[in-house]
Amino acid sequence: MAEEAVLRYLENNEEISDSGKFAEERGLSHDDIVNVIKSLNGFRYVDAEDIKKERWVLTEEGRSYTEAGSPEFQVLLAVPVEGIAREDLQKKVEPSIFKIGWSQALKNKWIKMGKPNVSREVQHVEDKVKVVLLRIQNGEAISSEDIEALKKRKLITQQMWKGYSVRKGPNYAAERKKVATDLTRENLQRGDWKELEFKEYNFSAKGQPLEGGHLHPLLKVRRQVQMIFLQMGFEEMPTNNFVESSFWNFDALFQPQQHPARDSHDTFFLKEPSSTKTLPEDYVERVKEVHERGGYGSRGYGYDWKREEANKNLLRTHTTAVSSRMLYLLAQKPFAPKKYYSIDRVFRNEAVDRTHLAEFHQIEGVVCDRGLALGDLIGVLHDFFSRLGMSKLRFKPAYNPYTEPSMEIFSYHEGFKKWVEVGNSGMFRPEMLRPMGLPEDVQVIAWGLSLERPTMILYGIDNIRDLFGHKVDLGLIKRNPICRLGIQYTESTS
Ligand code: PHE
Repeated sequence: MAEEAVLRYLENNEEISDSGKFAEERGLSHDDIVNVIKSLNGFRYVDAEDIKKERWVLTEEGRSYTEAGSPEFQVLLAVPVEGIAREDLQKKVEPSIFKIGWSQALKNKWIKMGKPNVSREVQHVEDKVKVVLLRIQNGEAISSEDIEALKKRKLITQQMWKGYSVRKGPNYAAERKKVATDLTRENLQRGDWKELEFKEYNFSAKGQPLEGGHLHPLLKVRRQVQMIFLQMGFEEMPTNNFVESSFWNFDALFQPQQHPARDSHDTFFLKEPSSTKTLPEDYVERVKEVHERGGYGSRGYGYDWKREEANKNLLRTHTTAVSSRMLYLLAQKPFAPKKYYSIDRVFRNEAVDRTHLAEFHQIEGVVCDRGLALGDLIGVLHDFFSRLGMSKLRFKPAYNPYTEPSMEIFSYHEGFKKWVEVGNSGMFRPEMLRPMGLPEDVQVIAWGLSLERPTMILYGIDNIRDLFGHKVDLGLIKRNPICRLGIQYTESTS
């Protein structure tokens, strides 16, 4: 309807000078006309130009006076010819109206506060406020003094009115051509595809928001890391036991029983069941021996190793607990080289802050083969990290009870313009590997890092609690990109 009106009108007329008047004359809604003009303009059927006009409209208060009359008028009407006591007058008029109307009527000298009564000063007055408000409502011209007075009383406000002037556009036609959105079998059979006009593709259309589920950033980065390990020929380790014994988490890793990490301030110990039921007894003996007296070229720690301490159940503090189990199992068979990885949850009794949580995820890689050396570790780390987009690496000597040498891994962050620590690594000690029964020429290189850290850097999240835990905003998970093309470290948002 509205579209037809606009196109037909332009067939015989140069222009629609004011869409507002145009709509009014035809009894059409201006909103409808505006929508039609915008659409026709988009397809260049018409050329539309904005018209902006400022106009005065009544406030809610102003509108109420067009019916009941201004407050001063209402007060005047309530004063009888013989006069009235102020309290009685007040009772006759609504309090809010009385408050305004009383002072305004006095100011207009319509009424007088005599003794003892209020009396009329005039018999007949015109309610000019009401008259002017009505004229504004009808869009009639008003003097600037009247405008000022009503504006001051907040009975009118200025409003921006937007409309269009419209002329024929380069694609003008009296009727909009139906454009085809699909080429159908029938179009081809009938041959009418030759005449059809096809709708152009809108390559910048946003598309429907996705209805389906959304993957958490940690899941996406975990997947990415998993793919890297698989491409490098690594096998996944079974990490589905969060509860571990101190033996596999610490003792098998040559971590002495008085080590501070084995304190309840750092580790969550289980109350129920508080200790493990079974451990491989002959291996336990060899572990006890190496802690107490050493062997394989080591002097050991020289303390009384206690079985009860090794039996204590805990929430594993690192996935290296799983690596120690896997290496022990590997040592029970004729030796074959292996590459293992894991990505799973670990627990530490930490004070929670913006970079620490009491539970997080570790990524771990382990390579076990004859004759491996530090150069192999450095090589595999370069391979692994460059696949994650970190090709500039530096290493710093470090200490772990179970590796020697040990190296912290730093990567140059192009966004932050500095070296950031990205992981920890080393060669497992003979005190760990030999009691397991691995042959003497077999070496194991390994490294570990958190999953949270690279995820935070990749997704520009600077508080770990926004990534994991009960404070995570589901909107973040919905908003983050489905995929990132290329692997790039983006600058953190703060
Ligand atoms: N387990 C170490 C950690 O928790 C990481 C690591 C794994 C270090 C393997 C060396 C070798 O930080």
